[in-house]
Amino acid sequence: MKKRAIILGIESSCDETAAAIIEESGQNVPNLLSNVVSSQTEIHKKFGGVVPELAARSHIDKIDLIVNKALQDSGKKLSDIDAIAVTAGPGLIVCLSVGLNFGKALAMSLKKPFIAINHLEGHALSPKIVTDLKYPYLLLLISGGHTQYLAVKNLGKYKRLGTTIDDALGEAFDKTAKLLGIKFPGGPFIEKYALLGDKNRFKLPKPIINKGGCNLSFAGLKTAVLKISKTLNNKQDKYDLAASFQKTIEEILYKKTKIAFDEFKKINLRKNNTFVVAGGVAANKKIRDNLEKLSLNENFKAIFPPQYLCGDNAAMIAMAGLERYKLKKFNKLSYPAKPRWALDEKAIFLKGSGVKF
Ligand code: KG4
Ligand code: ZN
Repeated sequence: MKKRAIILGIESSCDETAAAIIEESGQNVPNLLSNVVSSQTEIHKKFGGVVPELAARSHIDKIDLIVNKALQDSGKKLSDIDAIAVTAGPGLIVCLSVGLNFGKALAMSLKKPFIAINHLEGHALSPKIVTDLKYPYLLLLISGGHTQYLAVKNLGKYKRLGTTIDDALGEAFDKTAKLLGIKFPGGPFIEKYALLGDKNRFKLPKPIINKGGCNLSFAGLKTAVLKISKTLNNKQDKYDLAASFQKTIEEILYKKTKIAFDEFKKINLRKNNTFVVAGGVAANKKIRDNLEKLSLNENFKAIFPPQYLCGDNAAMIAMAGLERYKLKKFNKLSYPAKPRWALDEKAIFLKGSGVKF
């Protein structure tokens, strides 16, 4: 019997040091044998955001422990591993370099293939860890650094349909949280505050809602939140602003996703359409429920990774590694860390005040 591939995934692109082991199962979904994530939230909290130098130091301190723990949890030995898949970008270069060099050294000493993974591809494939998900599908990637609609045609084949022209959605959540006095990363707290507030209290702008196809913009929304935040007097005011912000985001995503559905249908002429929402912000329950409803109405099958696979993790890196391993898509050990690395490298740059629709 052919040996089932076992892949070690390593992730260190930002403020999570993570390692995971995935085994081919012979079924449509693999076996996730271990998934260890060590978050640096406590280190960066007092600075209001990730401090690259401190993040890199913490990765250096922990990487061997985290990889060892992933091995232990999986019940496998280092010699059982068939390939090492590591995030090579995009991300903070000082952070990426830690996981990348560790993974390369391991691959070299074990004489096993090394696979460089795009972190965004990890998010894109994250539902495959637990769900039988076939190409092609429409992806809404909503994380701390990226917000995009992409047609995922096949492994490594992406067409960008829309992107944010300024802030990423996670960034908008985190900045709003900061203005409400919530410590970094505030995204998840906005969701909690929103449950206690009046979502109709503040009217917030929806930038480029009626233009720009399924491109998105959140900068004007942030400015409006900044202005209102200066007028708040008590906790209830904060809950109301959080609820109004959450509602506005839901409305923006509803409208833009509808447009993305239409654009996706033009390139995917099949009857069965699938819509995946991934990335840290995909953990937001109200956003999930709202997009699930839209998908039902529009005849798209909605698939979300479970919440523990939405934020940064190495299981998704191992998953992308397994798909690449099966196709023998290996990389040389000279593969560089890439701070910028778009999934659709042909898509034009759409960022900044010069963008007009
Ligand atoms: O994918 P991720 O873990 O890291 C990046 O690759 O950026 O995403 C992190 C982002 C942060 O901005 C965080 O505040 C946001 O996801 N986030 C949320 C929620 N959980 C995490 N935003 C809104 N609601 C949530 N429940
Ligand atoms: Zn991420």
